[in-house]
Amino acid sequence: MDKLPENLPLERLYRAIVFLGPPGAGKGTQAKELARKYGVPHLSTGDMLRENIARGTALGMQAKPIMERGELVPDSLVLKMVKQRIQNADCSFGFVFDGFPRTVAQAQYFGELLKRCGYEQPVVVHFAIDPALVLKRITGRRLCKVGGEIYNIYERPTKVEGRCDLDGGELDQRPDDREEIVAPRLAAYAKQTAPLVAYYRRLGRLQDVDAAQPVEEVTRGVLEIVRGAK
Ligand code: AP5
Repeated sequence: MDKLPENLPLERLYRAIVFLGPPGAGKGTQAKELARKYGVPHLSTGDMLRENIARGTALGMQAKPIMERGELVPDSLVLKMVKQRIQNADCSFGFVFDGFPRTVAQAQYFGELLKRCGYEQPVVVHFAIDPALVLKRITGRRLCKVGGEIYNIYERPTKVEGRCDLDGGELDQRPDDREEIVAPRLAAYAKQTAPLVAYYRRLGRLQDVDAAQPVEEVTRGVLEIVRGAK
């Protein structure tokens, strides 16, 4: 079990926030910011899968070739991982999920799981952006190998080339951020994840943010949604 945070912020979340949107829309960037603000965990199934790959677990070995092709990892593998993670004590003040759920089956399972764990249904923030805009964001993305901070060689360069501003860690590029993998990732989003927009809208849980704006503007929009959520 993880420890509870020692210095709790004044504003509390007490619920699950889900960031939904295409690859490169800025979900991870905003999830880190929101999680920092509320002192809650930023959960990303993509990060969890990459950690499993790095550790060479059985799950990681199964997920690696699928992710390298830009396809979605089967629900059965992802759901087990999510169930374990949100039962950690550090999630009891709420959490920000980025990149999950990604299929209607995952969303249905997640809804049931939240109920069973005593959480309200999630607030879903839809990162609306023209897919044509995400190519430059994805191919320009660099990640700190130490703390996972997200940079972009075009939009958010580091002060010292190749080194993280926060901890000096070396920067890396994700294997699926190569230009030729972007099209299959966008196709998987359109086919399997975009139907969630209608799904959550029907449930009255979804709100849109214009993800084509600069980072600070998107942050403002996200905060308005989260603070106004019933
Ligand atoms: P995952 O890791 O979830 O990746 P993704 O959804 O494809 O999203 P990205 O991380 O690419 O983009 P983002 O929206 O977080 O953008 P970011 O903030 O980094 O998934 C990877 C793979 O894992 C999947 O393909 C699948 O195989 C598997 N997987 C994961 N979850 C799964 C699930 N639930 N089920 C099945 N399979 C699963 O920003 C991008 C760049 O843009 C950065 O460089 C950033 O600096 C820059 N940027 C951000 N915001 C702005 C802005 N407003 N203006 C300008 N630049 C910006």
